[in-house]
Amino acid sequence: MTTQPTRLQPLEGYVLQPEHYYSQEWFDAEQKNLFNKTWVFAGLEAQLSEVGDYLVVQVGYQPMLVTRSKDGKLNALHNVCRHRGAKMLTECGRVQGISCPYHAWRYDLTGELTHVPQQTTQFPGLETRDWGLLKGSVALWDGLVFVHADPDAQPLSHWFAGLDKRLARFRPSRLREINVSVYAIKANWKFFVENHIDWLHLYYLHSSSLKDFAHDTGELTQHGPHWTSFENVRDGQDSNAAGRRPGLKEIPGLHADDAFIGAHLIFPNLALLTSPTSFATVNVQPTGPETCEVEIRTLAMPESVVPKNGFKELDQVMGEDCSAVERLQQSVRSSAFSVGPMAKRWEEPIVKFQQSYCGFMGL
Ligand code: FES
Ligand SMILES: [Fe+2]
Repeated sequence: MTTQPTRLQPLEGYVLQPEHYYSQEWFDAEQKNLFNKTWVFAGLEAQLSEVGDYLVVQVGYQPMLVTRSKDGKLNALHNVCRHRGAKMLTECGRVQGISCPYHAWRYDLTGELTHVPQQTTQFPGLETRDWGLLKGSVALWDGLVFVHADPDAQPLSHWFAGLDKRLARFRPSRLREINVSVYAIKANWKFFVENHIDWLHLYYLHSSSLKDFAHDTGELTQHGPHWTSFENVRDGQDSNAAGRRPGLKEIPGLHADDAFIGAHLIFPNLALLTSPTSFATVNVQPTGPETCEVEIRTLAMPESVVPKNGFKELDQVMGEDCSAVERLQQSVRSSAFSVGPMAKRWEEPIVKFQQSYCGFMGL
């Protein structure tokens, strides 16, 4: 088995090898070389509305926090105690300060060390100002919180490379969360992401669940390493896709080309789903070389009435997707596993995703 990085040239077609989808060694390299070096979705700004609110987020192998401090600012802090290195907070919530459960060092919401038990007798000469929590970077995109392990990360606006402009009219900060669904999937996170940007499977895997949509109208656009894609409804179908979830209000200010169904990717692992009435974050968290967890948070206009069974259709589509990516995982170790010709247009985003991925991974 080859798990050492190798240069795969030329960068054409489907270049990743089977072991990139199951090797622990490769998974470790990914945490270090990809997730430690990109902006990672942490949650919604609405979860940080009050002083003391915080998010716990895993950035590669780095446990991190985003806190709302008394000055109203957001802080990205490494969730690692400066005494002996224990991870401190484990669940999102609200605190007045950050206490380490091990030996009770305490930090304020900006990460400054504020209290060391037995300081004068056991830690003579310790200067608390020297032992604050290490910092990362935090940035907002219209209500979505992103964090980076590096305090000097490139600005989020550079990273978005125009993607934010294409999605700007949704303005998710004015929307309210109406549903959270979590799916545990027995497949490598890249199989899930590649499936999300695979337009070809819409015709077949979702032939029933997405039958109202005209996949031939797919408008797929690359923005640096990211993608947006939109499609229209079929002729004769309700042109107001809001009809699919009665009770949800239309999002005002959208243009005709924002409407209908959109499926997008913020590289590497935040997918988005949009419609005229909803905006959903689909956070694909790697949990091991052969597993991932997908958390979908759906936002809608505040005055929307959440329909009963309104997410049945999401469960159906997700069930189909999970089944497909788990089938890939089940065969990826087979000596017969290989990837043949890729569809020129409808699978092009997968090829481009792999090129961006290879750039980070030194392939
Ligand atoms: S490891 Fe946190 S106080 Fe000791
Ligand atoms: Fe799908």
